[in-house]
Amino acid sequence: MKNHYNFVSKYYDRLSTAVFSNDIQIIQDWLIQHLPAEGNLLILGGGTGRILPQIYQQSPNLNISFLEASSEMIELAKKYSPAQQNVKWIHSDRWEEYIDQHTYIYAAFFLDCLTEDEINTLIPNKGEQVWYVADFDPRNFKSVVQRIKIMMSIIFFKVFGHHSLWSLPDAFGILQRKGYKPLKSNRLKSQYVFSQILKTPSH
Ligand SMILES: C[S@@+](CC[C@H](N)C(=O)[O-])C[C@H]1O[C@@H](n2cnc3c(N)ncnc32)[C@H](O)[C@@H]1O
Repeated sequence: MKNHYNFVSKYYDRLSTAVFSNDIQIIQDWLIQHLPAEGNLLILGGGTGRILPQIYQQSPNLNISFLEASSEMIELAKKYSPAQQNVKWIHSDRWEEYIDQHTYIYAAFFLDCLTEDEINTLIPNKGEQVWYVADFDPRNFKSVVQRIKIMMSIIFFKVFGHHSLWSLPDAFGILQRKGYKPLKSNRLKSQYVFSQILKTPSH
């Protein structure tokens, strides 16, 4: 997986806006508004990091770990990040060792890169966490056009980003079955772009 998104990094934001309009940004605006004022936040698969200025505006005192498998994405994210923002850059495609070290986890359009088995391994071994998740929800397609857009994106990322799956994992369904407790939810008008803030099950 490491660096598989390097090739598309420069075009990623423009492409996602062209295909999904502003939905990817709008759903993350909502999540960011609910971030805590301080604490440790792990951003999984943060992409170009275009959300970083907004996170800084909302929560300037957050300590952020930005974990990303693509070195080119990390370079772009460094440019977006305001100079005073406290960010640790982690170039890795292994998230397991970092999850237990953070109280807040942010995963936007990241879980759709994982298999359902991988999503099943996400729960931390100790402590309680709050997860901020945004993704496509395969339980709520409203039209054939939406299915076609997702299939075209999957094919595109298979060709240019080595994407391994042929369908969307049911990420929200898995989190719910694993006992994650939804605290707040937001479904856009398009229905299949969904966001939830969840608490991990207590041990
Ligand atoms: C679909 S993009 C989403 C980017 C960003 N979160 C957004 O909402 O625009 C997924 C990102 O996750 C990264 N990624 C995929 N699998 C990963 C892994 N196992 N570990 C770290 N990053 C990963 C990719 O490099 C890519 O930048």
